[in-house]
Amino acid sequence: MRIDILTLFPEACEPFLSASILGRARQAGHVTIVCHNIRDYSTDPHKKVDDRPFGGGPGMVMMCQPIFDAVETVEKIDSTPARRLLLCPQGRKLDQRFVEDLARSPRLMLIAGHYEGFDDRVRDGLAVEEVSIGDYVLSGGEAAAMVIADAVVRLMPGALGHDESAVEESFSVPASARDAGEQAVCLEYPQYTRPREFRGMAVPDILLSGDHARIRAWRAEQAMKRTQDRRPDLLGGS
Ligand code: ADE
Repeated sequence: MRIDILTLFPEACEPFLSASILGRARQAGHVTIVCHNIRDYSTDPHKKVDDRPFGGGPGMVMMCQPIFDAVETVEKIDSTPARRLLLCPQGRKLDQRFVEDLARSPRLMLIAGHYEGFDDRVRDGLAVEEVSIGDYVLSGGEAAAMVIADAVVRLMPGALGHDESAVEESFSVPASARDAGEQAVCLEYPQYTRPREFRGMAVPDILLSGDHARIRAWRAEQAMKRTQDRRPDLLGGS
């Protein structure tokens, strides 16, 4: 997979993209991620990328020209067509199913804005899909681009080093439900590591029993209970 990130602040993205699982996945060749500075594509003599809104109002709006040129030029770097994602609070809200869908694309282009938003002609003129990471407003799309890159790359085969963990965790369809063809998503069961007791809190005995069938059943039950308690909406409740 290839991910191109179009941003005014590549220097804010690079350290995140070079650390931990993402950094390792890039080094191992599971994914190619390239940041591009939208300002480099401005034809303005002062490399201007934003201007005052027509009709008045506060703040600045990102101009069409640098974004159109950046998207069209970067897309040509590789012959694989990109799924263009515009990061903004108005977009489709990201969830694990959406992430899994994005992870099936051979190429993503993440377009991060700043200031008060984009000139609206970016939306139709570039045939972008708008994506939001939640119902709050960030000062720019970079953090949202990092969230998407992280969530998608960790699903790439080999990225986590052990493919089971991407399947067993919160928001993935549990193996038992998958086998039954269900679409349920569950939160993760509680996990523990050494020591067996910490400040008077003991690890549940079942996990020390060595009985893997019973442990599996206990975990499935705990995952379901947690989901019912904390996120009944995931199970179709309210
Ligand atoms: N840019 C500003 N706020 C955002 C959000 N919630 N999601 C994605 N991009 C954004």
